[in-house]
Amino acid sequence: MSNLPFDRHRRLRSSKSMRDIVRETHLHTEDLIYPIFVLEEKGKKVEVPSMPGIHQISIDRLGEEMDEVVELGIRGVLLFGIPDHKDAVGSEAYNDDGIIQQATRFIKENYPDVLVVADTCLCEYTDHGHCGVIEHQFVDNDKSLPLLVQTAVSQAKAGADIIAPSNMMDGFVTEIRQGLDEAGFENIPIMSYAIKYASAFYGPFRDAAGSTPQFGDRKTYQMDPANRLEAQREAESDIVEGADFLIVKPAMTYLDIMREVRDRFNVPVVAYNVSGEFSMVKAAALNGWIDEEQIVLEKLLSMKRAGADLIITYFAKDAAKWIQR
Ligand code: PBG
Repeated sequence: MSNLPFDRHRRLRSSKSMRDIVRETHLHTEDLIYPIFVLEEKGKKVEVPSMPGIHQISIDRLGEEMDEVVELGIRGVLLFGIPDHKDAVGSEAYNDDGIIQQATRFIKENYPDVLVVADTCLCEYTDHGHCGVIEHQFVDNDKSLPLLVQTAVSQAKAGADIIAPSNMMDGFVTEIRQGLDEAGFENIPIMSYAIKYASAFYGPFRDAAGSTPQFGDRKTYQMDPANRLEAQREAESDIVEGADFLIVKPAMTYLDIMREVRDRFNVPVVAYNVSGEFSMVKAAALNGWIDEEQIVLEKLLSMKRAGADLIITYFAKDAAKWIQR
């Protein structure tokens, strides 16, 4: 051995207890939000083929999911609706008796302590599958906004605790904030999908929610995965417009963006660990190629390390079980 000095980093890794006391990042059950797909059709619990273990579930069976959520100590669920009826303007999204509104009322009546986060978008409710209304084959920003406001207000009336607009129309935070305030919901926060990339990782979700666009793609409203500064502009606008939380979506391939958002803004940052990220891990795990528990916990931890305060993840129930152990 030479007598050149070097640092002994391994001193702090010498035992589990030693590693435990110097660990910088922690994953807690309180960090997790569990997405649920609610079906309008009765008596159903249907596994999503590309998302093993994730179901579309009807309201009469929603209690099965919610009992587990409560048992595991998960604080919030993110609701997506799968309506029986779709049309060009997504009417079921803002029907006070729509699927999400019914599901929200059910949860708030029976599980009042679980936070209901309502996804505010039209794509599950439009027959063309886009997130707004179409004019001349183009998603019209300003014509979509009033419908999104109506959706958010209707969700709040049903008892939603947090409004999460995912549609990527410009001005949605301003408009929804004003709409909520005027309707007397000034205390309902907006969790904005501020930074949402046009990502291939949403594929399995679109199977689950039946929301694949029937023509074109979402690239005129969702962001180009190549852009970093644009993410800052999106976050800035949403903060100015009054967003209470900022979502970065997807998570895994955008940890750099998450870190920058965390460093520049002081609202809670939410990582959305999306469907494709879930399905890839599941597929490998089901083949016995990876250790699912270790991989999932490592991934979720990396999102926290990148600055996320909260994580929306289809692994929420599994992770909560693993954390408890
Ligand atoms: C609705 C919405 C999408 C997701 C969440 N809200 C799909 C999309 O934009 O196509 C994707 C979530 C996931 O992949 O898990 N606009």
